[in-house]
Amino acid sequence: MSRESAILVRDLVKNYTTYLRKGLFKREKKIVKALKGISFTVNKGEVFGLLGPNGAGKTTTVKILSTLLLPDGGEAKILGYDVVKEAAKVRKVIGVSLTVEKGFFWKLTGRENLIYFGMLYGMGGPFLKRRVEEILDLVGLNQLGATDKLYEEYSLGMKARLSIARALITDPEVLILDEPTLGLDPPSARTLRELLVKIAHEKGKTVLVTTHNMFEAEIMCDRIAIINEGKIIALDTVENLKRSVANNVALEIFAFLPANVPVKSIIETIKGKTGIVSDAFAENGGFRIKLVIPPAESDEITSKVLKILHEYKCSVKKVEVKEPSLEDVFIQLTGKSGF
Ligand SMILES: Nc1ncnc2c1ncn2[C@@H]1O[C@H](COP(=O)(O)OP(=O)(O)OP(=O)(O)O)[C@@H](O)[C@H]1O
Ligand SMILES: [Mg+2]
Repeated sequence: MSRESAILVRDLVKNYTTYLRKGLFKREKKIVKALKGISFTVNKGEVFGLLGPNGAGKTTTVKILSTLLLPDGGEAKILGYDVVKEAAKVRKVIGVSLTVEKGFFWKLTGRENLIYFGMLYGMGGPFLKRRVEEILDLVGLNQLGATDKLYEEYSLGMKARLSIARALITDPEVLILDEPTLGLDPPSARTLRELLVKIAHEKGKTVLVTTHNMFEAEIMCDRIAIINEGKIIALDTVENLKRSVANNVALEIFAFLPANVPVKSIIETIKGKTGIVSDAFAENGGFRIKLVIPPAESDEITSKVLKILHEYKCSVKKVEVKEPSLEDVFIQLTGKSGF
């Protein structure tokens, strides 16, 4: 392991055993291959994103790294400590936030909760008090006037900040956060992202964060691993990932469709007639279709797609050809429409 890497993951495998119900009494055993041998390293002082759709294996990975789940194969090390063989040492150097709302005392204030968890970690006295105030400032709870509110009165944004505050209490070198901005409104999500970048870039901590939001990964992470169906399908800086589709352009069409037509059937028709995978999102009462295409074929494909939309009686409002985004990288890499 190089001196600069904080997290090392090599050929990590995890299988879950589940039982599928078959009729009233029968159950059939099924193995879910959640991680199929993933490898990556996270450098010290960087924000590293694990980006992938639902069920990709993100939570499984961070649970293994947090010593909460045992892998079935491969290895993972944090600051050189093995997450299986040296779990106690790993726990001393990491701060973890997996689910925002779990594990806090509803009848204690935010400050009291942090003091309680600090004491669990063996901290105490004026040092702990000072540390708690520092963190309450850092995560912005002091500024929100939320420190003396009971936890049960906290908004989701306040809970998310407190969850990160708890992860920071021991001043850990490595922060591991599972979807920290899930459910937050855009301003709260932005503040939290800025905080994580600050913790990494100004305080030199290492932040591993999972997200299914490409926009978030693009603005927050120094490097990103795209994980899909238990495998890492790309790993690089956002710029380099984008460069990998740079020879292509992103065609975006905004349209309204008749109420009785499912977007899915349009997407399938486009794929059938052009051979190109597209993605679609609902937007302002209509939908936006995206396709990553070679510039030389841009005109031909655009007219094919417009013809299909016309046949479906869609009303096309806007046609744009753009630079590819991280999202387009995902569509291109997985060959399927995204999140
Ligand atoms: N305890 C479990 N038992 C059985 N299967 C599980 C269990 N936990 C996760 N899985 C399965 O393992 C795969 C990976 O799940 P995981 O929770 O790691 O995905 P994720 O990337 O975090 O997804 P999400 O974005 O929905 O949180 C999925 O197919 C999921 O159904
Ligand atoms: Mg998850």
